[in-house]
Amino acid sequence: MSPRASIRDVWVAYDDTGGASGDVVLFLHGFPHSRAFWAPQLAGLPALAPGWRLIAPDLRGFGESDVVGPWHVDHWADDVAALLDHLDVERAVVVGLSMGGYVALAFWQFHAPRLRALVLADTRAGDDTPAVRERRHELIALARREGSEAVAESQLAGALGATSREERPEVVAGLRTLMAAAPVDGIVGALDAMLIRPDRSDLLASIDVPTLVIGGTEDAITRAGEVRALADGIPGARRGMIERAGHVSSWERPDAFNRLLADFLLSLAPDRRDS
Ligand code: MLT
Repeated sequence: MSPRASIRDVWVAYDDTGGASGDVVLFLHGFPHSRAFWAPQLAGLPALAPGWRLIAPDLRGFGESDVVGPWHVDHWADDVAALLDHLDVERAVVVGLSMGGYVALAFWQFHAPRLRALVLADTRAGDDTPAVRERRHELIALARREGSEAVAESQLAGALGATSREERPEVVAGLRTLMAAAPVDGIVGALDAMLIRPDRSDLLASIDVPTLVIGGTEDAITRAGEVRALADGIPGARRGMIERAGHVSSWERPDAFNRLLADFLLSLAPDRRDS
């Protein structure tokens, strides 16, 4: 059984691996994933950025965490802060992919002192367009009617780049399994949360921690122009594009993603609270 913490009103499951140096990376997964999404990073990063402690929670509603609302992106950000308290971590580099990026931006808004640096992958600061809202309502109906496997099937092709779909059957199968495991109530709750999330574009100019923005060149959900706009909006942000990867770039090309992330981590000044 993996560790679980009772924080606020829920039990949250998490992985906590790697170094005891005080340098912490916290990973926030996308929709409808779980912390298992970050397995390639937890396995690959220690060789590239030794000593870092790697923490990956299941956001409430997913994985082994409780499936209970309230469903709001800001609430997930508060959960993350409470988990860091529980783990006695003052500050972390927060890595958020897609929905996890929405949570990371909320974390910046409400818990900025806890953020040492930020990595935003395949995500955006804006709220939903009318077309995306309509799609979310369709997905809610599909989830209730046909369950998680149908949702996974409907999301799979769009989440992956063409190269993965055509040449990486194990990547496709792994993502399908991961998404199909999401609880229906978690899926519906997350869709509700994303539907009501605010536009955080105005917040970008205030971000004053080192930031890396990552995109996949074959991402059909967060296109390259949006990735560029996100990076351009954050003072001093770096941008890294991963070739032959779609919306789940860390899952599709973990070696390239881990390299980008490790270079970024190694560029950060040591975080020594008492020095
Ligand atoms: C994700 O991968 O987390 C989703 O694409 C986020 C969204 O639906 O906006």
